Parts: sequence; structure tokens; C-alpha cells
Amino acid sequence: MRITYAKAIYDDKERQAVLDVFDSGWFSGGKFTQEFEEKLAKWWGVKYAVSVNSGSSANFIATQALKMEGEVITPALGFPTTVSGLVYHNLTPVFVDSDENLLIDLDQVEKAISPLTTGIVFAHTLGNVCDMDRLMRIIRDNNLKLLEDCCDAVSSKWLDRKVGTFGDLATVSFYPAHHLTTFGEGGAILTNDLKLYRECVSIRDWGRDCYCKAGQDNACGHRFSHPPFDHKYYYTRLGMNLKMTEAQAAFGIVQLDRLDGFVQKRKENYKYLSSRVKNVVKSIKGADVSWFALPIIAESEKEPIMAHLEGSGIQTRSIFAGNLTRHPAFYKVGRSLDLSTTDKIMSNGFFVGVHPDLTKDELDYMVSKLNEV
Ligand SMILES: Cc1ncc(COP(=O)(O)O)c(C=O)c1O
Repeated sequence: MRITYAKAIYDDKERQAVLDVFDSGWFSGGKFTQEFEEKLAKWWGVKYAVSVNSGSSANFIATQALKMEGEVITPALGFPTTVSGLVYHNLTPVFVDSDENLLIDLDQVEKAISPLTTGIVFAHTLGNVCDMDRLMRIIRDNNLKLLEDCCDAVSSKWLDRKVGTFGDLATVSFYPAHHLTTFGEGGAILTNDLKLYRECVSIRDWGRDCYCKAGQDNACGHRFSHPPFDHKYYYTRLGMNLKMTEAQAAFGIVQLDRLDGFVQKRKENYKYLSSRVKNVVKSIKGADVSWFALPIIAESEKEPIMAHLEGSGIQTRSIFAGNLTRHPAFYKVGRSLDLSTTDKIMSNGFFVGVHPDLTKDELDYMVSKLNEV
């Protein structure tokens, strides 16, 4: 038996969608991408979605688009590309701790605020949701910008409101381990703000000023009003090319139809496992979590436990980087508050899967093996 921590689920519908792109003869930035963006925005309940080629690209673009300065508060626990965009854009990350439920430590956030602080960038780690009322009070009281990394938290909610609708911008990943996939890689940025939407599109599309959609060539009506410039090739920001392909978007359109079912199953699997296993990470009152995985903070170091589970055919993962500041890429980056809980999570924390394809037999097997260790 091999029980993976994640699994992409798809069938002939996704296959046909990709073949439709093949037959269309147009492979990037076309009608499928536009439909995917509109459908994703509608599903999430936001005005705009910008499709990109990964969650990391989404974080990079969103960080640039927010035009923050000085210091930005971020948890040390997590995934590197939530934070690396800050460094690329000359911001100083101020690393704060997380609690044993992987939630950003809001007491420390308050302590970390200085006259230089302009924003908070954080991930809803493995889908779990902190007290968003308190976080938003901190944001408002201190006039900060907020970027929510929702790569692990598609459909997680705080008091019935989806995460990703609280911040100025939110990001998502469609890598196959996540809640839905766009044919392997992919991501998106979400917002209700037209200016930020256009900023993100521009950074994604080489930094150009033009905002024509697929099939349009002169939406602003001023394409040739400023010779010698052609507005389609007029650059007002530094950009990259971080676009999604049509095949990815077509695959994603079908996945969006399956998404509510995926979320339901993930929640059921988490509930089944968490009610039978000790030391699992829990949600707090007010949060309705769409779990990425079943996180466990063991009473002792994680390595022998993970090795035993792997030896029993159960795939395990560490809680991403653990404490980012302990990794060479981040040694000299920013400043930190006390990160002792993050360190404990790094040494004792790991996760196993709750993906929608797990069978009852597999769940029972996981329970018995987890209880053995
Ligand atoms: C919280 C978080 N942010 C960002 C990413 C990066 O997403 P991607 O792999 O699509 O670049 C991940 C990936 O797993 C993640 O878990």
C-alpha cells in the first residue's frame, strides 16, 4: 500500500479540455484563460482573478503590485516564496512566530509593528485560519497593506467569509498537491480592486501598459495616439512573463466544477483522521477550514516518526521549510522576534494527506499506523 500525501484527480473531461485547446490553434492568453479567470473569480466571490504560471509567481507579482516600503511582517513558519518576493522588492521581512495550530502569532504581530511597517504578508498555513477579525483590526489601526497567501487554503473561511477576500490581494497555487490543479503548474492573484488588478496583469505581461483582453487590440482607443509608441508595446512597470497557458486554463475550468466536492471530501477526511489521532493541529472557533493536509505536532522529534510511516507506505511531509530563517537563503534577511514555537514545529511537525481520493480502508490504515507511533 502506498498512501500519498496528495493526488491530482481528473478524468476524460480534463483530457478533452486540453485537446480542445490543441485543436483551437491558440495556446496562450486566449478564450480559455479568460473563461478560467472569470469562473475562478466568481467561485471565490471576488471581482478579478489574474491567472499566472505558479503560486510563487502570484506572490512575486502581488508583492510588487502592492508597492509596500520598509518593513513587512511575515511568519517565519512556511513556504519560501511567500517571503522571497519581499526580498526581491527590497523590503525588510520582520519574522514573527506561529502558534501550535500553525497560526500567525497576533500578539507578536502587534509587537513587531514599527514606524517603518507598511504591510503584512502571510499564508493560511495548510489551510488553517487565524482570528481574522483581530488581524483586520491590526491592519486598519495601523494603515497596513495585506497580502493573503491562500495557496493551501482554497475555500477556508472565517465566519462564513472565504479567506482571500480580506486582503488587498490574495494568491493561490494550482500545483497538483493543492486543492485543484491546472495541468501541473499554475496560480492566480485575486482582488476586488481594479487598479491592483491592472497592476498585476501588467507585471505578469512584461510590464506593459496595455490592458487589452484576448482578441482585443485597441481597448483604450489610444493605441497610436502617442507616436512613436504603440500602446501594446509601451512599458510603465518592470515586468516578467509569468502567464498561464491555454491548456492549463482549460484543465482548470473543469477542475473548478469539481472543487466544492474536493473541499467537502478533504474536510471529511480531516475530521475522520483528527478524531482518531493524537496531537493533530486544530482549527479555532470561527474558522471553517478546508484542509490541505492533516498536520501533527508530535511529542518528540519528527524524523523517526516520519521514517516509520514512510516505511509503512504512508507518505509524509515536513511543514514546508519549518523556520525559514534557519535556511541559508534567509540567513541574512530581515529581523526576527522570538521564534521558539516555529522551531518546535520545525523539529516535531509533519503532515500526511487528506486528499479527496483516500478510501475508508486507507484512512483506517493511516489511523492504525499513526497511533503506532
Ligand atoms: C503557502 C504556499 N505558498 C506558495 C507556494 C508556492 O506555490 P507554487 O508551487 O505553485 O509555486 C506553496 C506551494 O506549495 C505554498 O504552500
